[in-house]
Parts: sequence; C-alpha cells; structure tokens
Amino acid sequence: MRKSLLLTLMLLTGEDWAEAQKSKANYDETKIAPYTLPELMVTADGTKVSTVEDWKSKRRPEVLELFKDHVYGRTPADWGQVKFETLAVKKDALGGKATRKLIQITLADHPGWKGMEVMLYVPNGLGHPAPCFVGPSFGGNHAVSTEKDVPLSTRWMRPNKEKFIVDNRATEKSRGNESSRWPLEMIIGQGFAVATYYYGDIEPDQAEGWKDGLRAVLSKDGANTEWKDGDWGAIGAWAWGLSRIADYLETEGDIDAKKLAVIGHSRLGKTSLWAGAQDIRFGIVISNNSGEGGAATMRRNFGETTAIITKSFPHWFTKTYSSYSDNAAACPVDQHMLIALAAPRPVYIASAVGDEWADPKGEFLSGLNAEPVYELYGKQGYGVSAQPAIDTPVGDAIGYHVRTGKHDVTDYDWEQYLKFAKRHFSK
Ligand code: GCU
Repeated sequence: MRKSLLLTLMLLTGEDWAEAQKSKANYDETKIAPYTLPELMVTADGTKVSTVEDWKSKRRPEVLELFKDHVYGRTPADWGQVKFETLAVKKDALGGKATRKLIQITLADHPGWKGMEVMLYVPNGLGHPAPCFVGPSFGGNHAVSTEKDVPLSTRWMRPNKEKFIVDNRATEKSRGNESSRWPLEMIIGQGFAVATYYYGDIEPDQAEGWKDGLRAVLSKDGANTEWKDGDWGAIGAWAWGLSRIADYLETEGDIDAKKLAVIGHSRLGKTSLWAGAQDIRFGIVISNNSGEGGAATMRRNFGETTAIITKSFPHWFTKTYSSYSDNAAACPVDQHMLIALAAPRPVYIASAVGDEWADPKGEFLSGLNAEPVYELYGKQGYGVSAQPAIDTPVGDAIGYHVRTGKHDVTDYDWEQYLKFAKRHFSK
C-alpha cells in the first residue's frame, strides 16, 4: 500500500503536483505576511533614479541583468543565421478575409533543432501594412485555427484527454481546441494581423524536455548539459522564439513591424513579459493571467508561490530561482520590476476574478509599482491606485482589468487588447 502510494507520488508530473496545491494555497488577504519590495528607483550603488537617462543607461540594464541572473536566465548571445522558408500561402483564408501564411524558421548553423512553424494571418484589403499580435500557443497552429487545411503539429504535446492528445501527439480531433482563445475573425476584422507558433516547437514543456529542443542544441554539451545558475530556462527559450518571429516579421512587407504586440496566457504570459523585457521591438506587451513568475507580486503569499512553482516547474526558470523558494524576500527583484522593463512601451495586465491561483491583486500591484518608471517618461500608468471593480478596464500606458470568469483568454480580454493596441499604435 505504502509502496504504491510512493510510486503514485513519484509518477506525479509537475503539472499534477501544481494542480494538487491549488486547494491548499492561501487565499486569505489577512494571512499575507508583510513584505518590502526591492527598490525599483535606486541603482545598485545607491543612487536615486530621477531621470529617463538614469533609467535607460543605468537602472534598466541593471534590472534586466538581475532578471537574467535570478529568474529566467541568460539567453545565449549567438545562434548564427536565422532562415525563413514560406511553406504555404492561402490568399482566401477565413472566408476571404485574410491571407494565411505558414513560415518555417530554422537555424542555418544548428540543423539539430527542428525549427518552428509560424502561422500568420493578415487581413486582406487593408491598404497598409498591418499591426500584428505575436504570441505562442499551447496546442499548435491547428488548435488556434479551425481551418482544416492547417497542418496538424507532429510535435510532443502534454497529455490531455479533453484535447484529444493521444500518446503525446495531436490528433484530428484536436483541431480548433484553442480557437476560443484566438478569435481570429474578430482580430482580423479590426485590422490586425496575428502571428503564432506552438511553444513546443522550441522544446517540450516537461522537466527533461530541453534535451529534445533548442536549449540542448545551442549548448556545447548538448543533452549532457548541466544547467548552472544564470543559464536560461524554458521560459527564456520560448521567449527567444517570439523574437525570432519578430525577425521574420521585419522582412514581411504585409506587416508593420513597428507595431508588434507580444501576447501570452498563463505560462506563456510569463513568456510574453520576458520577451517584451528583452526585445524592445515589441511595442506593446500583454500579459493574460500570467500569475506567479509573471505579473504577480512574488512576495505576496497568495495563490501560487515561489516555493510551489519552483518545485512543480523548475525547468521554466534559471537554477538560481529555486533558491528563493522559501525565501522570496532574498530575491533582488520582484515582478513590478519586470513590468517596468516594458517602459515606456504600453503594457497591459489582465486578471480573472476566478483565477485566484494567479493572484489577481498581486498582478494589479506589479503594474502599480512599476508606475514610477512610466512617470519619468511623463506617462500615466493606471490612473487609479486601487484594483478596479470587475469588468472595469483602467489605465493609459499601463492597462489593467479583472474580468468575470476563470483562468482563460476570452473575447472580453481581446476586446480590451484591441482597444488598447488601437489607441497606442495610432499615436
Ligand atoms: C499552472 C502553473 C501556473 C501557470 C499555469 C498555466 O497552473 O502553476 O504558474 O501559469 O499552469 O500555464 O496554465
């Protein structure tokens, strides 16, 4: 009996273990121990940051380095030449409203990496290059789109009966299973393009997944790599993929590459924030329900904690991050500093009221505490200091809403992102 219990525990995936923690976490505001956030506006040598120049030339680079060293790890400096190959073009996609392209991105010097397949939808008849949302998917291009001629991903996928993943592979029935999170017709209808890729094209999302992906290929020790403090984790690698899409979009005449909005949900929201922090070509940064390790304040013990996430998903982060599992106070950064790395670019943080695991209030607070950097640039953040009522979006350069419902991406979320992107991209 005991043995089988032990065996069951050993077979639990990080995903299952995290799920099991949900009922045990703290959801009581009065039980959050007092905490002090690390100083955003003081440099390592103790100087106050009071000008844009101080921020740009001193503090911002410091904060970026801190996130590399302590949270997400360092993206390698070189991966050689990036190759783009257009695999297919369909000019009458979405009933003639859009052109759909499939583009294969590979690395000329690293044929060991199988590459990533980008699906791009561009509105037809727009008359000018389109602004574009860029984001990773959980289920692959065939899951984002309901169009039957989108090739089924052949890559490893996390087990999921409801999504008809069989033996870690998508099946015909998996088509469209993420389409409610990507309302393509609505986005296209408002004059925006969408570029997306399956995050598993970079590496499978499991503890040993890196051995079969980009991180092993780019490491000199390949699958024998011993990840050291400061080396990149999976979030860093997935974010790298988003930047390679930006590389491609800069060559794509139908896209206005000065108007790219990076977007992600949940673990992929953590990814979009980290992509936006490192790559300023993303002119807008959007975090949908990104929670712990994303927009949520690390030091608040509410919902998922550093201790839980570093135990269930250690592979997402750099090794050092695990050392803060029971001591978040020792970490030299908190997530308001990640939001500040987007400045002065507009950033949008979205929560859902039923997504307590992601700590909606903690997500709100990170945006609020990033405001001093926006103020340096003469920009207004939220314009409010308390979390707004449900379904009441707020903010100018920093946008926020907490919507009705659960952990998900809904049309309501997209309506706000589209308004936000229109407002800022037309400036
Ligand atoms: C788990 C994990 C979260 C993550 C989420 C997701 O719940 O604990 O940190 O955001 O999965 O990506 O769906």
